[in-house]
Amino acid sequence: MIDRTFAIIKPDAVKNGHTGYIYDRIQKFNFKVIGAKLLRMSQEQAEGFYGIHKERPFFNDLIQFMTSGPCMVLALEKENAVESWRKVIGSTNPQEAEEGTIRKDFATNVQENAVHGSDSIENAQKEIAFFFLDSELLTN
Ligand code: RTP
Ligand code: MG
Repeated sequence: MIDRTFAIIKPDAVKNGHTGYIYDRIQKFNFKVIGAKLLRMSQEQAEGFYGIHKERPFFNDLIQFMTSGPCMVLALEKENAVESWRKVIGSTNPQEAEEGTIRKDFATNVQENAVHGSDSIENAQKEIAFFFLDSELLTN
């Protein structure tokens, strides 16, 4: 089934000039970009988006990182989009990421790891709605 996932080209990747290379991977792997925007997350946005990690020791560092500069948020469509995108981005820690994955090629470390990908269809829907109005998404 064609479904949707949510992706972020994170501030480290934008700062390091990797936006175009990562967008190229998105297209190479046949994801359809149905929404995209460049923005700098506010403290409130970052805390809301990563609220699930509030109790984790890395939470404050993560918020500081995600608000440190511009990022690109994207809504993607493909057959089995959530799982497929997670495969393309690779493990959270780039040292454990497989060859050819985005994190292997562009991440700096476990925190500054270049991209985000939703971990379930339900979260993908919530995350897309967090950053996009319905009217900002292509419908066909
Ligand atoms: P994401 O949500 O960004 O796609 O990453 P993920 O599922 O692979 O990893 P998750 O466990 O959800 O962690 C969210 C983000 O928090 C940062 N992190 N830092 N310092 C650390 O040990 C640590 N662990 C995670 C990363 O930016 C990670 O992507
Ligand atoms: Mg996650």
